[in-house]
Amino acid sequence: MQNKTFDVSGRVIIITGGGGALGGAMAKYLASCGAKIVVLSLHEESARKSTEELIQMGGEAMGLAVDVLSQEKLEEAREKILKQWGTIDVLINAAGGNMPGATINPDQTVFDISVEDLRKVLDLNLMGSVLPTLVFGKAMADRKKGSIINISSMASTHAITRVMGYSMAKAGIDMFTKWMAMEMAMKFGDGIRVNAIAPGFFIGKQNQRLLTREDGSLTDRGETIIRNTPMKRFGKAEELNGIVLYLCSDASQFVTGTIIPIDGGFSSFSGV
Ligand SMILES: NC(=O)c1ccc[n+]([C@@H]2O[C@H](COP(=O)([O-])OP(=O)(O)OC[C@H]3O[C@@H](n4cnc5c(N)ncnc54)[C@H](O)[C@@H]3O)[C@@H](O)[C@H]2O)c1
Repeated sequence: MQNKTFDVSGRVIIITGGGGALGGAMAKYLASCGAKIVVLSLHEESARKSTEELIQMGGEAMGLAVDVLSQEKLEEAREKILKQWGTIDVLINAAGGNMPGATINPDQTVFDISVEDLRKVLDLNLMGSVLPTLVFGKAMADRKKGSIINISSMASTHAITRVMGYSMAKAGIDMFTKWMAMEMAMKFGDGIRVNAIAPGFFIGKQNQRLLTREDGSLTDRGETIIRNTPMKRFGKAEELNGIVLYLCSDASQFVTGTIIPIDGGFSSFSGV
């Protein structure tokens, strides 16, 4: 007898930022579980490369170059996906990240921030999940079934030095997750769920040089993070696989509006 609780085979899963560190690892894992993966990347080359890797692994995948801030491109992508695979089961909003001008260096104060870059970071990290949710969530609403997974951060609930805009946007993601969970369940029934995962500190392209030096030793910032993480290490991208599979599958069918930390204990630790 086959247990279907965590089964995602055949499900169509869209991953924005699917060529990135976390989105890319999720794409590989979910493809290995038999899901059909749509990699949405900002650039054509990254969409193509990520898709080829998934197909070489024996997975089913489609790559589309789409800016998550372009409603028009997102709508075009929705039509292509529905034409090819007939349905959209899951959306993972993994596109996001920081921008140098919106980050406050140690020798600066908040008054040195580039307001233009601040707006861009707010846009990418908040509207960059809101717009795909509205566009792909509509296809889920039409058939009253689907799961949306946003990516929050420790920065949504803790004031973390240097990253004001990113933190404000991620705090917005938490409320957007709760709000959409309510809206979808109350207007379209219990088949649509909206949740977020809040990763702790995972080494990626964007934060590598902030947290580690070229010789692999920790920067001061890296050391502070590890000191405040009871498990005393950074996370590995694959350590998000279990929670992502849970949220994609029927195992979480009564779970909506949650923000789940995967952080080695960072968010629960007093620091003492
Ligand atoms: N790495 C961490 O420690 C960590 C911790 C908490 C939260 N997060 C969040 O997880 C998500 C993924 O982070 P990551 O570490 O994989 O970053 P990453 O930079 O490796 O991946 C982000 C991807 O988003 C894409 N992207 C950027 N702007 C885009 C746009 N306008 N349209 C489409 N795609 C766009 C990039 O091309 C990239 O492929 C982000 O939201 C990030 O804030 C990361």
